[in-house]
Amino acid sequence: MSFQFATRTKGLRSSAIRDLLKVTEMPNMLSLAGGLPTPDSFPLPDLRREADRLLGEFGPRVVQYSATDGMVELRQWLSQHYTVELQRPVAIDGEIVVTHGSQQALDLLAKILVDPGDVVVSESPAYLGAVQAFELFEPRFEVIPGDEHGMKVELLAEQLAAGLRPKLVYVVPNFHNPSGATLSLERRQLLARLADEYELLIVEDDPYGAIRFAGAELPPVAAFTTRVVHLSTFSKVVAPGFRVGWMIGPPEVMAMVARAKQAADLHTATFPQLLLANIVSQPGWLDAQKARIVPMYRERYHALSTALHHIVGDRIRFHHPEGGMFLWTHVDGVADTKQLLTHAVEHGVAFVPGSAFTIDQTPDSKARLSYSALSPEQLGEAVARLARGLAAYDAAR
Ligand SMILES: Cc1ncc(COP(=O)(O)O)c(C=O)c1O
Repeated sequence: MSFQFATRTKGLRSSAIRDLLKVTEMPNMLSLAGGLPTPDSFPLPDLRREADRLLGEFGPRVVQYSATDGMVELRQWLSQHYTVELQRPVAIDGEIVVTHGSQQALDLLAKILVDPGDVVVSESPAYLGAVQAFELFEPRFEVIPGDEHGMKVELLAEQLAAGLRPKLVYVVPNFHNPSGATLSLERRQLLARLADEYELLIVEDDPYGAIRFAGAELPPVAAFTTRVVHLSTFSKVVAPGFRVGWMIGPPEVMAMVARAKQAADLHTATFPQLLLANIVSQPGWLDAQKARIVPMYRERYHALSTALHHIVGDRIRFHHPEGGMFLWTHVDGVADTKQLLTHAVEHGVAFVPGSAFTIDQTPDSKARLSYSALSPEQLGEAVARLARGLAAYDAAR
């Protein structure tokens, strides 16, 4: 049957990662492909206890319709948290919108900001979900390359001086997905200065900041300018299935976001918001949760990087991330890692080829290896399989 879709759906790509999940469901497959949090990190006993208590004590309110910008209990906690983090008061009303994950925040921002042909500045590689969200509104992507210290903001400065006028600049400041890079303090400050000078809007997407296992914490870009919409989420630090994230931004932008959100879903689900607000507002709870889960990621990261070093050697190179879930690797002698993937899958291991994260999807020698969802032992075995896949790839050349 044929149907007439809107023109804007033409460029809409399917997520290579979601497509890959089909492969990873094959029996005995070890997947370095997904970026799912380790299930051991979910605080199930606390969630269960609090869910019972909420249903008992609050009754119908926890399953009723609620405000578009979010439950007041959660906005109260966010306001306190960000007043400390940004070193300035963040209002409960007007500066915060709770969203169905950060993914919805990206979609809503694209909806209210991007007209066809508008310039969206992004790094490449980029988080695929953001590219998908923006792409539907037909922007022109202007790619600013990055390195292990994040987007080369100094190149953006040159482009702005030469006349580039983006509608928004998209950055992932901590442990970027997929590059693992952390935007340096100098670049954060420069980006903020550029935002003020050129009246830009920065979209700072920070789902991974809480999962830091090395190095010192850095202030968000939003601490240096108010021309930022800062996104974050409970997905990585508590659990992704609740779909609770948030955005903190200028009241003018948040008011428009709230209107778009009314059209999208009226409000974020009431029950998970209250559940999470009640849990994270318990004194010390979030720090204890981080102290429990960060070592899990540190251990897995060490297991994967050490196994690569011992089993594969210099052929797979990468910068060492200071947190998050990803190793962004360069595989010497492999021009298109999609072809390596075919051999890897035959040997029982999957990863995401780098081209999935580039805006133009050109083949490259990069691969994203996620250490988040396998145990240290499984990671060792996954690398042994990858080495066999690599040998099979070489033999087939
Ligand atoms: C950079 C980035 N932004 C946003 C998201 C979406 O997160 P959420 O679960 O809050 O929608 C992800 C998820 O992997 C991500 O990696």
